[in-house]
Amino acid sequence: MTCELEPTSGTSRPTYKLYFEDEENRVRLYLGDCLSVMRSAPDECVDLIFADPPYFLSNDGITCYAGKMVSVNKGKWDRSNGFEQNFRFTAEWLAECQRILKPNGTIWVSGTQHVIHLVGVAMQQLGYRMLNDITWVKPAPPPNLSCRYFVHATETIIWAAKNRKSKHYFNYQLMKKLNGNKQMQSVWKIATPRKPEKRYGKHPTQKPEALLDRIILASSEPGDLVLDPFCGSDTTGVSAVRHGRKHVGIDMAKEWLEVARRRLRDELTNIKNSRPSRGDILSGSCCP
Ligand SMILES: C[S@@+](CC[C@H](N)C(=O)[O-])C[C@H]1O[C@@H](n2cnc3c(N)ncnc32)[C@H](O)[C@@H]1O
Repeated sequence: MTCELEPTSGTSRPTYKLYFEDEENRVRLYLGDCLSVMRSAPDECVDLIFADPPYFLSNDGITCYAGKMVSVNKGKWDRSNGFEQNFRFTAEWLAECQRILKPNGTIWVSGTQHVIHLVGVAMQQLGYRMLNDITWVKPAPPPNLSCRYFVHATETIIWAAKNRKSKHYFNYQLMKKLNGNKQMQSVWKIATPRKPEKRYGKHPTQKPEALLDRIILASSEPGDLVLDPFCGSDTTGVSAVRHGRKHVGIDMAKEWLEVARRRLRDELTNIKNSRPSRGDILSGSCCP
């Protein structure tokens, strides 16, 4: 078994397929609807979830990218289906995440104002325990072309535990150390991804690796299983393997899974090349 999140399709024909697997590092990417994949996974098998769901903001509006006026639309997957349906979808996938989280597991959900309040209400209805709401500040946001609003410069990331009984893991000491030996606050200033992170293709809502590095280091331990049900270009997977975690990523678009596969292979090659070889270990040349 590659990792604990091993969907079993039962008697019905599976509506998803395994797209990429690295058995040695216990990494898998599934192509399909995340609800179908999660529904066929056993209870309490995941340590950490990072979810970056559709924002429901692709409403034919405009925004600014690289100094040019462009459409705000991210793709069909990001269109709003109206409040009721958006809420039902949000509550459904959050319920599945809760079921497959281990008793002390936690979930992070990122979003803009278009979706994050739905997420917060659904989480409270489901009995998650809210731990923090992180404000991710983007240092160089695009200007607001309509001049009718403040510049949108932040996203919110909710961190929550499976339920009120959970004893969640938090690497407090490491976060303090990374913050110049001061307690880390819930406002994080992190730049959006630069060119090298997009060398295999540009996902319209790609998250920066530094953001996922912080999340994964803060709330999981080496060997833990990290799931991303809306993985896109799989920034979560790149960071998870970098820090020795197992990983399952799910996306319904082949286009993004191909970018994810190439990013993961690159990261896995880097890891392999930085491991001391058997000869080095035996000769002691890997030690200072
Ligand atoms: C906000 S993006 C995630 C971007 C990702 N965090 C990254 O760094 O590249 C959301 C992704 O969810 C996928 N998606 C939308 N609905 C889905 C569903 N029901 N099941 C699986 N994937 C879905 C979209 O194809 C899109 O790539």
